[in-house]
Amino acid sequence: MSKILTFEEIRNNPEIQTYLEFTDKAFAIMGYKEHGQGHALRSATTAENVLKSLGYSAREQELARIATYMHDIGNMVSIHSHDQSSAVIFLNVIDETLYGDEVFAVATAIGGHEDKNMDPVSSIAAALVLGDKTDVRRERIRTQDMFLIDKHSLVIAACRKVEVAVNKEKSIIKLKIDIDTSICSVMDYFEIFMSRTIHCKRAANVLKCDLELYINEDKFL
Ligand SMILES: [Fe+2]
Ligand SMILES: [Fe+2]
Repeated sequence: MSKILTFEEIRNNPEIQTYLEFTDKAFAIMGYKEHGQGHALRSATTAENVLKSLGYSAREQELARIATYMHDIGNMVSIHSHDQSSAVIFLNVIDETLYGDEVFAVATAIGGHEDKNMDPVSSIAAALVLGDKTDVRRERIRTQDMFLIDKHSLVIAACRKVEVAVNKEKSIIKLKIDIDTSICSVMDYFEIFMSRTIHCKRAANVLKCDLELYINEDKFL
């Protein structure tokens, strides 16, 4: 391993790949939405892009990408407290010689990613929250039968497209969601996703931005 932590090493680490694969298999059996490579990569790319668009350094972008890629790996153990187990697994899986401020910042961002009652502690943590909580894709749902899925999954299934757009000049992060209202109503979306929307707003504020929410072109926030 090199003396600094890189995304490429994390991405190519066989132990991490195994954990992600196992997690996703277990989640599939439980009927939970996709939580493997797809979610890890998609959310990591969004986190990286948010920081890139706001002019953060390449290294901060990479650390956010690493943290976000690893954020749900603790689901391999249990969904309960998986934020904290993910952080511990991350620390265990990397070489101890890499330990230092950057590694600990990544671990802290991972460990706090489900805490909706607290502002994310850093730009890395904020980017992670935005990457994670905006990955609302219908492809992540495992069943085609809308009568068999719970309301949370139903809302996700109704999301045709979710876009995170950053306007650096105006310090605005726009979350644009296209909902198929034949599957669920806009109210259903708010009922299920209000807390996650507020979490995204907190994260945007940490990045010194306002969050704007558009659903089917209508501005709600
Ligand atoms: Fe999580
Ligand atoms: Fe996640």
